[in-house]
Amino acid sequence: MNGKLATELQELYDSEHSKIILRDLFAQNPTRFSRFSRQYNSATGPDVTMLIDLSKNLITEKILATLLSLAREAGVEECRDKMFSGEHINNTEDRAVLHLALRNFNDFRISEHGVDEVPAVLTHMKEFSESVRSGAWKGYTGKTINTIVNIGIGGSDLGPVMVTEALKPYSKRDLKAHFVSNIDGTHIVETLRECDPERTLFIIASKTFTTQETITNAESARKWFLYTAKDIKHVAKHFVALSTNTKAVTAFGIDESNMFQFWDWVGGRYSLWSAIGLSICLVIGYDNFEQLLKGAHGMDKHFKETPLENNLPVLMAAVGVWYNDFYGAQTLALLPYDQYLHKFADYFQQGDMESNGKSVNKEGERVKYQTGPIIWGAAGTNGQHSFYQLIHQGTKIIPTDFIAPTSSHNPIEHSKHHRILLSNFFAQPEALAFGKTVEEVRKELGPGASEIVVQSKVFEGNRPSTSIMFPLLTPATLGALIALYEHKIFVQGVIWGINSFDQMGVELGKVLAKNILAQLEKPEDVQGHDSSTTGLIHYYQKYRQE
Ligand code: F6P
Repeated sequence: MNGKLATELQELYDSEHSKIILRDLFAQNPTRFSRFSRQYNSATGPDVTMLIDLSKNLITEKILATLLSLAREAGVEECRDKMFSGEHINNTEDRAVLHLALRNFNDFRISEHGVDEVPAVLTHMKEFSESVRSGAWKGYTGKTINTIVNIGIGGSDLGPVMVTEALKPYSKRDLKAHFVSNIDGTHIVETLRECDPERTLFIIASKTFTTQETITNAESARKWFLYTAKDIKHVAKHFVALSTNTKAVTAFGIDESNMFQFWDWVGGRYSLWSAIGLSICLVIGYDNFEQLLKGAHGMDKHFKETPLENNLPVLMAAVGVWYNDFYGAQTLALLPYDQYLHKFADYFQQGDMESNGKSVNKEGERVKYQTGPIIWGAAGTNGQHSFYQLIHQGTKIIPTDFIAPTSSHNPIEHSKHHRILLSNFFAQPEALAFGKTVEEVRKELGPGASEIVVQSKVFEGNRPSTSIMFPLLTPATLGALIALYEHKIFVQGVIWGINSFDQMGVELGKVLAKNILAQLEKPEDVQGHDSSTTGLIHYYQKYRQE
């Protein structure tokens, strides 16, 4: 972000931004849509097609070209190739970044420890998930499993939650799936209320197997299970682990044969493709899980082999940098018009914010520009009845990504619902881009309208959006969509010169909480805090009921 091109972009912004008016740009150029949209067709694996329309963004040919030059100058192509070849681009942890090796199917050559073990783990996941789904795997009283409970947090929760929700049409409806993440006892208690110990399988998902929330919830689940099952040997039929830490897994009492392995080069927020995806396999079946992987691999290939000018993750990243670093946008709203994607924004909150929420570059220097955006959003049309008001008429610039399938898995009433949904999907970006002028409002309201009402009904427009469409939310399409965003985040990280693959920012709070936990018993134990923290802890000690 330093250098000649960043300066050039700043100059372009200063001189051009007041002239970048979407109404005018579309009026002047009837081919704007075709110029700024791209069709993705997978070159490998299952057929996936996707349309990405960037034309309603506040960009011109010159701006986009300069942003792409910035990406090139930042070394996006070199860094991408380093990632694909297994170089240790996660420099603070000295690790490779190889989630793409989990979905590679022998296409790219990658030499890193563990990569050659991926097929064996996939086979283990396939065999295990098929035996549970078919009923061959029995609980300790000989009954089949009808409920799975994934216990994990962060990347060991959000990916499986998002994907199992997104691919519900492919799910085994008589296998209930729960996801417990929060340390708040309410989460595990309310979940266990719905479980039968004889028919429940607990999946303890933790890369490190040291995460306080996960281990505490897992211990409570095991206690609850043993209350009925009595004998510790029955744990083997009801608890499996997904982890890189064999020692901690076996110390917990889970047999190594019930452990699904992965490797330190799989980042937590990129782990749904690994053994962490076991709950996904159980819910949608291994074949569909493989389609998800293959769909992602198709996008990996596109990202690896396509020139920057047509490279979808790069184009989306470039546009994002434009708003983030020049327009001063603070956030990006992810707005899927598909109820099945209702966890998509939650998932990429971690994916993006834990990756690019950094203020120090790879050389350890404080950056002088903005890095990762705040990610938020909700499934349409619900958001239209809550926060869209601010996007349309507020004082902030909020770039948005609208995402929708052309067809629904539930085309009820001859697709009436879906047509209404899509009419909103088309209308919102149109309204955001083109708004409604004061003249249009006056004409609409007629003579004698109150000026206050007129002004309040004006939509300034010129609010940017990207639209993404695909035929149907299939496993392969979802895989490609997730990989698209993963690589976009990677590209932005390279442009900002930061390490997108560590997460040091989660550590300090954890350490302080550990210290505080040891002081919660008695007021006189509360030492070494500011008056606010001390006051809050004292309030808790006075009023707690245990
Ligand atoms: O929040 C920090 C983090 O390390 C995430 O990156 C990770 O997804 C989550 O905790 C869970 O970690 P683990 O899988 O090791 O329990």
